[in-house]
Amino acid sequence: MYYKLNTLWKELSLDLIFTLFLQNIMVYVTRKVHFNGAHKLFNPNWTEEQNDEVFGKCANKNWHGHNFDLYVTVKGVPNPDTGFVMDLKKLKVILEDKVVSKLDHKNFNLDVDFLKDVMPSIENIVIKIWEQIEHELPQGANLHCIKLYETENQFVEYYG
Ligand code: NI
Repeated sequence: MYYKLNTLWKELSLDLIFTLFLQNIMVYVTRKVHFNGAHKLFNPNWTEEQNDEVFGKCANKNWHGHNFDLYVTVKGVPNPDTGFVMDLKKLKVILEDKVVSKLDHKNFNLDVDFLKDVMPSIENIVIKIWEQIEHELPQGANLHCIKLYETENQFVEYYG
């Protein structure tokens, strides 16, 4: 038994040992941002009747709008010098630059480069928002969850 454990321990990489150690002190921080936008849910391969049946009012051909609330959660170990997982002012700037400035007061079907050829359901929008920001975070801060509220009663969560 001792021999087996000893061998296993030697095979663990330092990175993995470090990761296991840090799991206990991981902290999750969240920034909320807001934007308004319009979209319609419409599958061009279907008839108008099929679209109406599946998407209802969301298929309205002249669009409809929502007030969206976006919650972005980043995880990491607090820096010993700052106490921060990451500077939330920097997260605000990233979200403003990569997400809000591209979506706010826009038509998601027509105006947004990262939603081109994407059915702009909130499910698909969170996946695309994740792609927009995952490589923008500083070292040591990792994206954990993106939550998008379309209405007060309806939201989606994505964990990458
Ligand atoms: Ni809608």
